[in-house]
Parts: sequence; structure tokens; C-alpha cells
Amino acid sequence: LIYDSFARYLVTEKGYDKGLLNITPESWDFCFKGLALDLEDGNFLKLAGDGTIMRASHGTKSMTHEEILEIYGRREWKHFKTFSGMVSRSAKYYCFDNYFDLPGALLCARIVDCLDQVHGRRTKYNFWKDVIAAVQHNYKTSAFKENCGTYFPEVKNDPAKYLQSCPECVKKWLRQLKNAGKVLLLITSSHSDYCRLLCEHILGNDFAELFDIVITNALKPGFFSHTPNQRSFRTLENDEEQEALPSLDKPGWYSQGNATHLYELLKKMTNKTEPKVVYFGDSMRSDIFPAHHYSNWETVFILEELREDKVTMPVENEPEPLEKKGKYEVHHPKAPYSLSKQWDSFFTDKISGLESAEETLTHTWSCKCISAYSTIAIPSIEAIADLPLDYKFTRFSSNSSETAGYYPTPPKVLLSNGEPVTTK
Ligand SMILES: *[C@@H]1O[C@H](CO)[C@@H](O)[C@H](O)[C@H]1NC(C)=O
Ligand SMILES: *[C@@H]1O[C@H](CO)[C@@H](O)[C@H](O)[C@H]1NC(C)=O
Ligand SMILES: *[C@@H]1O[C@H](CO)[C@@H](O)[C@H](O)[C@H]1NC(C)=O
Repeated sequence: LIYDSFARYLVTEKGYDKGLLNITPESWDFCFKGLALDLEDGNFLKLAGDGTIMRASHGTKSMTHEEILEIYGRREWKHFKTFSGMVSRSAKYYCFDNYFDLPGALLCARIVDCLDQVHGRRTKYNFWKDVIAAVQHNYKTSAFKENCGTYFPEVKNDPAKYLQSCPECVKKWLRQLKNAGKVLLLITSSHSDYCRLLCEHILGNDFAELFDIVITNALKPGFFSHTPNQRSFRTLENDEEQEALPSLDKPGWYSQGNATHLYELLKKMTNKTEPKVVYFGDSMRSDIFPAHHYSNWETVFILEELREDKVTMPVENEPEPLEKKGKYEVHHPKAPYSLSKQWDSFFTDKISGLESAEETLTHTWSCKCISAYSTIAIPSIEAIADLPLDYKFTRFSSNSSETAGYYPTPPKVLLSNGEPVTTK
């Protein structure tokens, strides 16, 4: 649906090739978290922890080791310093960081393919401004209310097609936390109208009772960062944002805001001078990095890529009656992008062009970020919902092992299996 929302706009409003509208299920293999898109070159890059290119494609077409060496050499990618600092948005590149982003990766790659087909390979591409216009058209603040674009009208029309309801054990876990006297917060960059639709569907009509504070249109990562990106909190009336508040005095539902003033309220609510915050998120760029870096909160990274070991093993290796297989898949839906044929593992890879040298598995940049910015990483909240609330996790920072914080287990590729893994 996200892909369609972009493609339809580009074809009808910006004159792009109609071929963009047709995609096969196999083409989703291209979507891979952590890819950097070099906007001018139309190249997608999988990066090592030190910024070396591990794999690359031009549009959707994989580049050979020779092409990568010729264009990039075995050196740090030229934008890596600003990219890895995650501080500002750049006009030079974009990082596809979460499941909402990923359809955009396939779309941009297909655009490059289409442009090359007509004009031959270019030295400079200029399609990004049109992608931004497509985002704006479909996802602007008023789009939900106005039924604008493709995305919101579709989800409103048939939420059950696009949303899974929250497992009972997770709802129970939230209630347990609340009953144990914890302050529960929901912080989302979605607007209040869309957030309400999502939460009513996945948690139930009484979802707001679970949370002491709800913050919508939070504009993460700006919500966490320092001035000038911080904004004032606003109250909402009929989903319309009201005047800026001078301070945040009591729990409730707010729009925009900043982590600094939220923390002041948390001090008041807990009567503690340094209340501890544990923040759960599935975006490295918008959740985990800024919450750790700017607010020094504990961070739990929800990483569906950690599911792959568990899910594929029993289904493929044990012959089971079809009926049972179906059940298993229902309870553990396979993340569609957990392993890509084109991009290989999310966590490790070999540096291209080193074929003749000793084959060394190297950690990806994405993998390095996990141990640097998360307290722990888990495949889903379900994976911890049945643990006692005072369960003690091992954190990434507890020792020098880069796998310490994965719960319940580190991804297999990171466990030594005879091959050396360097942490470049
Ligand atoms: C943070 O929010 C508070 C409360 O709305 C506001 O007074 C303050 O100015 C905001 N901070 C910044 C830097 O905008
Ligand atoms: C807050 O904590 C202080 C110091 O521990 C204590 O004196 C005060 O009674 C507490 N107030 C409330 C409302 O719990
Ligand atoms: C480091 O963490 C790992 C994983 O939890 C653990 O097995 C190992 O014993 C720890 N090492 C030290 C020195 O604490």
C-alpha cells in the first residue's frame, strides 16, 4: 500500500512510467533495512561499520565487485561521516531505516531503472524531489481527515486488511506494568486521528486508558534532539492542534513537544529526581539513536530481523502436516524482509573485492548501531511479555561482547561458527 501510494502519485501527477505500478512479489526482496541511497548516483549501498561498501546496486541491479571497486574503492563512503552521525537530514543521501521506509527503496530503485531504460545511465539523478512530493501528498497532516492520497483512505476503509491486533499477552503485559505503578507513555509521529484508528484496532477502544501520556505528531527524531529542532507541546481539540503550552503540567494527550519538558513532567509524576525511562522503538534513526544519544534513556530495539532463525527452521526442516504448518505461520508471521537474496544478512557480510584474500565476515553498519545505541534488542514485545517484570536482561554495554544484549538469543550469523567475524 505504501508503495502504491507513491507510485500512483508519480505516474498520474509527475508523468513517470506506468511500469512503476506493476510489481511482482519477488521484487520485495530488494527491500532491506539499513540501505543508504546515494541520491545523485541512484546507487543503493550496504555499509560496513567503518563505512566501507559491502554490496551495492544501481537502481535494482546489483553491482559487481569490480564495479564497486572502480566507483568506490575499498574506502569509506564519502558521506559516511555525516551519515553515521545521524545528526541532520542530507540532500545527498537517504537511509532506509524501518518498514515504513522500505517500500520507498524499491520505488526509488525502480525509478532509476525506468530512467536508465529511456535515457541511458546518467551522471546525476533528480527524482528525489518528486518522491518527497509523493510523501507530502499522501502523508501530510491533513491527509487522513481529507481522505487525500491512496494510503489513509485505504486503511480507513479496511483496517483489518492492514493491521494485526495486539497479542493478548502484550495487552496483559501493559496492564501489569500499569498496575505495578509504572507511568506508561505512547510517543508517535503519527497524527492523533490516525493514531486513534491504529490503536483502537490493535489494542481496543479503551486503549487510551492504558497510557498516562499520549504524544502524537511527535516529529521524531526532532522530539529528542536539542534546539532548534525541539517544539512546544500543544493540546488537541477535535484533532486540531491548539496554542503552544508554556509547560507540561499534567498527564494527558498532547501533540508535538520535546523530551526535555516531558522529563520534567515525569519527575513530578514519579516524585523522583532522576526517573528511569525505558523506551521501545523499531526505528534506529527516529527512536533508538536519539532517545539514547540526546535523552540518555534506556532503549529497547524491536528488530524483526531477529525472528528469522526461529521462523524458517521448523517450517523448512521438519516435515509437518500442512494443517499444523499453517497454524505455526499464523502465530509467527514471517517478516517479509528478514533475509534478502540480493543483500544477504542484515548483520554481517564480506567486504566486496576481497575474494582472493582471507574471507572475513564483517559487521554491517546497522549491526554496529544496535550494540552502540540499544540497551537490548528483541524480535518483538511478545518475546518478553511473559517474563516477570523484574527480569534482569544482559545489556549490550555490560561487557565487550557485541552480542550480549540480544534477547532471547543473538542472530546465528553473529555466533562464531568457524568463521572469524571482525567488528570493523
Ligand atoms: C518544550 O516544550 C515546552 C512545553 O510546551 C516549551 O515551553 C518549550 O519551549 C519547548 N522547548 C523548546 C526548545 O521548544
Ligand atoms: C516526594 O518525595 C519526597 C522526598 O522523598 C517526600 O518527602 C514527599 O513526601 C514525596 N511526595 C509525594 C507526593 O509522594
Ligand atoms: C559477556 O556477555 C556474554 C553474553 O551475555 C556472557 O556470556 C559473558 O560471560 C560475558 N562476559 C563477561 C566477561 O562478563
